[in-house]
Amino acid sequence: MSEMTVPGWPATHPARAIVDLAAIRHNVRTLGAAAPSSAVMAVVKADAYGHGLLPVATAALQAGATWLGVAQVAEALPLRAGLDATGVRPPILAWLFAPGADLAPAVAADIDLSASAPWAIEEIAAAARATGRTARVHLKVDTGMSRGGARPEAFGDLLDAAARARADGTIEVAGIWSHLACADEPDSPVTAQQVEVFTAALDQAGRAGIRPEVRHIAQSAGTLFHPAAHFDLVRPGIATYGLTPAPAVASSADLDLRPAMRVEARLTVVKTAPPGTGISYGHRARTTAETTLAVVPLGYADGLPRTASDAGPVSIAGRKLHVAGRICMDQMVVDVGPGSGVREGDLAVVFGAGDDGGPTADEWAEAAGTISYEIVSGIGARVPRVHVDTARPGREAAEA
Ligand SMILES: Cc1ncc(COP(=O)(O)O)c(C=O)c1O
Repeated sequence: MSEMTVPGWPATHPARAIVDLAAIRHNVRTLGAAAPSSAVMAVVKADAYGHGLLPVATAALQAGATWLGVAQVAEALPLRAGLDATGVRPPILAWLFAPGADLAPAVAADIDLSASAPWAIEEIAAAARATGRTARVHLKVDTGMSRGGARPEAFGDLLDAAARARADGTIEVAGIWSHLACADEPDSPVTAQQVEVFTAALDQAGRAGIRPEVRHIAQSAGTLFHPAAHFDLVRPGIATYGLTPAPAVASSADLDLRPAMRVEARLTVVKTAPPGTGISYGHRARTTAETTLAVVPLGYADGLPRTASDAGPVSIAGRKLHVAGRICMDQMVVDVGPGSGVREGDLAVVFGAGDDGGPTADEWAEAAGTISYEIVSGIGARVPRVHVDTARPGREAAEA
């Protein structure tokens, strides 16, 4: 995808994130094929991992995802409203709220809610009474992540609370679910142990007369590496965006995933610097010979981690270089070498699909000592998202 093929460079912004919806659709198909007996919930929390909530959700549904998942109710409501405007009404699960949250709008909007403890069932049931509807609940069991979910010894209490609310018609149990802690390490014994604990919890629910519509535990890594964890529904997030959940195990290309986001900027300053010139705050980098310095108008306020100073890769004029010195709030400097011919306005690619030898979100993650999830979801609101569809050039291009 060259600059010329992408319409709508935002006139007031020196940088942009291009999101290819054809890549999203391709990845959802790949994930569907990896779990052929399960439905797919595209996880679109955190503004679809920074890719833009509604365009991504719509593309995922077009490619066969039948569920959508978000963390917070505040994410679910605009998602439901946006999809209603397009005439589609998939189930949406939201799993994160604190006691006292106003759940009535979620129940009224047909948002499935997760419960890890009896208080959550009681609050969901109260919201159901307030709206005159039956709320759809997913009971979460902690099978080993030690984050959300009732521990197995407390799951009976959760089932009892659910049975009571079901008896008075305020809730129905749509799902029983959990989350895998070590699925990105295919050899870890933890995943099989978690599946065993999950299966025992499902049996326990069955004995209590609770048989949910869907049982689900697998995120991207569970979907791609652990067929025994697929159950009725898989919940891929990062792989939907074309990024591998386990870069040490398999690359995106190995997994037939296409990174959907490309972040690029136009150089704002290009200048010659003599040998011995200190670069950026603290002069952590210094030129060793006469060279050309180029300023890329993106910084840590745009989500490029300061910990990737001196290391984050950037492609300029087809050459893969790296940040020189500290990444600043809005800018970073790249030493493009002497006589490069690089000019102000030229394109710098910060990361993209990598298929042209350019930098990737995984490389930025490595440079920053983090994971690609944090790189893409951290790209700031100041960077306009431009949605394109490489399968349908010229159509569906929109700024978000
Ligand atoms: C409960 C839950 N399910 C699924 C996912 C998707 O995970 P991944 O992006 O690793 O596929 C997440 C994201 O962290 C999550 O919190």
